[in-house]
Parts: sequence; structure tokens; C-alpha cells
Amino acid sequence: MNEALEAIKQSILEGEKKLTDSKSVYEFKKSFLDSKNGKIGQLMKEMKNIPKEDRAAYGKGVNELKEWATNVFASVEEKIKAKELELRYKAEKIDVTMPAKEIHTGNLHPITQMRNQLIDVFSSMGFEVYEGAEIENDYYNFTALNTPKDHPARDMQDTFYLSPEFLLRTQTSAGQIHVMEDRKPPIKIISPGKVFRSDDDATHSPMFTQMEGLVVDENITLCDLQGMLDVFVQKIYGEGTVTRLRPSYFPFTEPSVEVDCSCFECGGKGCKFCKGTGWIEILGAGIVNKKVLENCGIDSEKYSGLAFGIGIERTAMLKYGINNIKLLFESDLRVLKQLDD
Ligand code: DAH
Repeated sequence: MNEALEAIKQSILEGEKKLTDSKSVYEFKKSFLDSKNGKIGQLMKEMKNIPKEDRAAYGKGVNELKEWATNVFASVEEKIKAKELELRYKAEKIDVTMPAKEIHTGNLHPITQMRNQLIDVFSSMGFEVYEGAEIENDYYNFTALNTPKDHPARDMQDTFYLSPEFLLRTQTSAGQIHVMEDRKPPIKIISPGKVFRSDDDATHSPMFTQMEGLVVDENITLCDLQGMLDVFVQKIYGEGTVTRLRPSYFPFTEPSVEVDCSCFECGGKGCKFCKGTGWIEILGAGIVNKKVLENCGIDSEKYSGLAFGIGIERTAMLKYGINNIKLLFESDLRVLKQLDD
């Protein structure tokens, strides 16, 4: 009997040296101590075959072996766990002297930011947003806006024609017609969106963004226009900024005006930015031409309207002091990151 116990002891001592990780320790331990299938567990089952007088000594021997084996496994387990922990610490070691990893957060494109700011400003004055379509037909983009075929004003907007009938809209003004056809006054909308012209230099791009404004109601005058634009320039360019209106020409407004704002760089004294004039041209606007109202079935005796068209890139370029529109389209993160409001 003693030999059997001794043999088990020897196999534990030999096997124990070969153990390398907690999993193998567990398996090895189980192969001895498992009460059903373990070698020591099975010795206990043998009890019934042992002559009565030897049973006490047998039981004692097996129990001692079990206790001894339990201790051996516990100390091997402890050693191996410590080794594993050490290896893990080594592998996961953090060098606290390393520079921190930079976390890059994204930001909205400056044009999107500008567009959102403009929407906020005009929404606060009760304007609704109307999304127009980028493909228009000749009627909405020109004819209904009092610019029939062969009208010289068509030359002002080099057009990308898709067919003799369809084109990429050259101005968000096209949306005015849709709105006035679909709704009855009072109307108070802004319509931001992309427009397209065959034009390309430092301040022009074949695709750019405009925001149209249209108000139609009884007794709308240029004073209403200027009041709203004063709010706009103050919110975008700073308090104290004022506007002035200069006579101009657009086929769809009569009278038409070019709107300047006081130079927000020098406060109107005259500087390089405003070319010494104290004023900066910001947008075109006017009182909706009666012909345009009538083209849309609106009674031009009862109602009048005001309209304006803001260039969103131009507004952003003025605000951020950018002199080349391409900087806004090149997706150079070094530029775009600086234009985060
Ligand atoms: N549509 C004009 C353009 O693209 C801008 C404009 C001028 C819009 C006067 C208007 C306006 O609504 O009244 O150049």
C-alpha cells in the first residue's frame, strides 16, 4: 500500500517541475485530487477492499498524502501565478514619460458652421428654412425671376446647362418662385444651398453656397429689409456694425440695392481691409419686383416683398479674414482647424 502512495508522491514531484502556467497546474491538480477520477480520490474508493484491521492506517496514509499534495499544488500555484503576473506587468508596462497620445476631435466645416449661424440668426427673427433643389429648369432660375431668354443679366451668371431646359441653379433665388407658387403670404423664408457658376478665381468657385431670404406680406419696405440685415451683421460681425444701402440692379428686385456693412476691422475709419472706405460690400437685396410676384400669382397691389441673397463663403471669408476661397474647399486640416468657432 505504501508503495502505491509513494509512487503517487513521486509522480507529483516529477510532474510538478514541468508545470508552466495556471491552466496546466489546474489540470495536473485535478488529475490527482478530483474526488471521482483523481488518482488520490480513487484511493479513497479502494477503502472498502482493504481488510478491516488495516483500514485506519490506510485512511490515515491517504489523508496525509492528500494533505501533502494539496500543499504542494498550492505552493506551485502561488509561484506560477506570481510569475504570470510579473510577465503581464512587463507586457502592459506604461511608460509615464511618453508624450500623451493626441486625441483628434472633428469639427464642422467652416461653411457648415457659417450656414448654421446664419440659420440661427434668421430663425430668431421668425424665418423658416426652405430647402430648394440644385437642379432647376430655366423658368425657375431665370424667366420667372424676370430674366427672360436673351436678357443681358443672364451674362452675370455663367450657367452650367444640363440640357436646353435644365441647369444647375446659379442662385438660390430660384427657390423664391417655388415658395411663392406653393404658399400664400405672409411668407418669411430663408433658403440656404449650393449654387453653380462657370467661374473660377481667388474669390470665385464653380460651386459655392448662398442663402436666400424672402419676406412677402402687406406693407413690406426697404426699412424692414435694413432692420433685419442690421440684426444679421451685428450677430455675425459684432455689435455696433451697421449697414448702408447703395442703388444696384437685379432683374427680380425693384428697387435693387447692394448692402455694405461698416468695416468691422477699423470700425469704419478706413483700413487695408475695407480699402480705406470704411465699408464692406456684403450682399445683394431689394424689394421683390412686382412682375415676379405676379408670375407667382401674388397680388402685387396688396402685397410687397423683400429679398436678399447672402454668399456664405463670402461671409465666412470676411469674418475669418480669408483672401482665397479655395482655402475653404481644399480640406486642409491645418486651415479648417483654425476656423472652428
Ligand atoms: N441672386 C443674386 C446673385 O446670385 C443675389 C441676390 C440679389 C438675391 C438680390 C436676392 C436679391 O434675393 O434680392 O447674385
